[in-house]
Amino acid sequence: MITVQPHIAAMPKYQPPWQGMDRAPYLRLDLNENTAPPPEHVVQALKEYIEARRFPLYPEYSPFMDSLARFTGQNPSRLMLANGSDQAIELTLRAFLSPGDTLLVAQPEFPIFSQVAGVHGARVLGVPIGPDMAFPKEAFVKALDTRPRLVVLINPNNPTGTPVDLGFIETVLGRVPDIPVLVDEAYHEYTGVSALPLLDRYDNLIVIRTFSKAFAMAGLRLGYLAARPEVVAELHKIRGPFDINSMALVAARAQMEKPDAWRAYVREVMKESRPFLYGFFDRTGVDYLPGAAHFLLVRPKDRDTAVAFLKDHGILVRPMHAPLIRDTFRMCLGTLSQTRHFAGVYETYHRREHEAGASR
Ligand SMILES: Cc1ncc(COP(=O)(O)O)c(C=O)c1O
Repeated sequence: MITVQPHIAAMPKYQPPWQGMDRAPYLRLDLNENTAPPPEHVVQALKEYIEARRFPLYPEYSPFMDSLARFTGQNPSRLMLANGSDQAIELTLRAFLSPGDTLLVAQPEFPIFSQVAGVHGARVLGVPIGPDMAFPKEAFVKALDTRPRLVVLINPNNPTGTPVDLGFIETVLGRVPDIPVLVDEAYHEYTGVSALPLLDRYDNLIVIRTFSKAFAMAGLRLGYLAARPEVVAELHKIRGPFDINSMALVAARAQMEKPDAWRAYVREVMKESRPFLYGFFDRTGVDYLPGAAHFLLVRPKDRDTAVAFLKDHGILVRPMHAPLIRDTFRMCLGTLSQTRHFAGVYETYHRREHEAGASR
């Protein structure tokens, strides 16, 4: 039998939740996607692309890069597209990490970082996030003294929702000017906070973003990174010339040119659904850990029973397994009516949990 490299054979497989199941009929709060149908003008743009029979051609990126440059306020030479931000993470780690190198990150973190570091035989130095879910600033700065090969700041962190303030990001950038600092901003549309302007002053900064979350395009796979042109040029040596498909560009351009719909969704989620759900949890005594973006952790008395109850009632959430949070599930917020629906179902579950506890 053929065998892969031993360090890969020893690795666990990354396991997204609810694999092998059709998630479409459910209210999907498990993968931090946009829960609304895509805007009609995006669907129309995709239809026109298909009807023009353009897809036999390899994709052409230059016109799109100009749109992305306008959208981000960055020169195209500072931008690079990726097949989802997962690929941007993969390319960055591949460029910087050799076997035995160290990646520094606050934990629990988005698991792709550890998985990709493992593929390259690199070690992850995790600084534990405290039970209050605040970013462990002091310990993180101390860990910089170990001189990791790559520093990762996920802002806000998935799964804990922990924000990292820009002042602290700047402290890190300035303290290790010869070490690359990757700032993952997958959720920045929900927080409005971005390290991108710091690129003018720090040449060790790499910012990663995605069209999967706020833009309702997770299935089309489009992400990008922003870095100094010298860094972008190096990363281009690793990425395939046609890794990003044309349909993703069509949808993304439609979203960037007419941003009203996705912005209205983000506003509804953050300004209506979020206060509604926090208020509901506070009133009913549900234990939860709020996050800076559109997702949060909930700590029921019996997590697995709660997750199964929600699934039986048509709602998917994600049970967490990392040390600090293994008794929680992560859920994202949807539109106000979806969030109200969740609250109605969860109230029934919570009442049962309460009654079962009282009769014990
Ligand atoms: C922090 C973070 N980074 C990156 C990603 C990857 O997103 P995508 O590959 O869909 O762009 C996710 C997805 O959940 C995430 O939470």
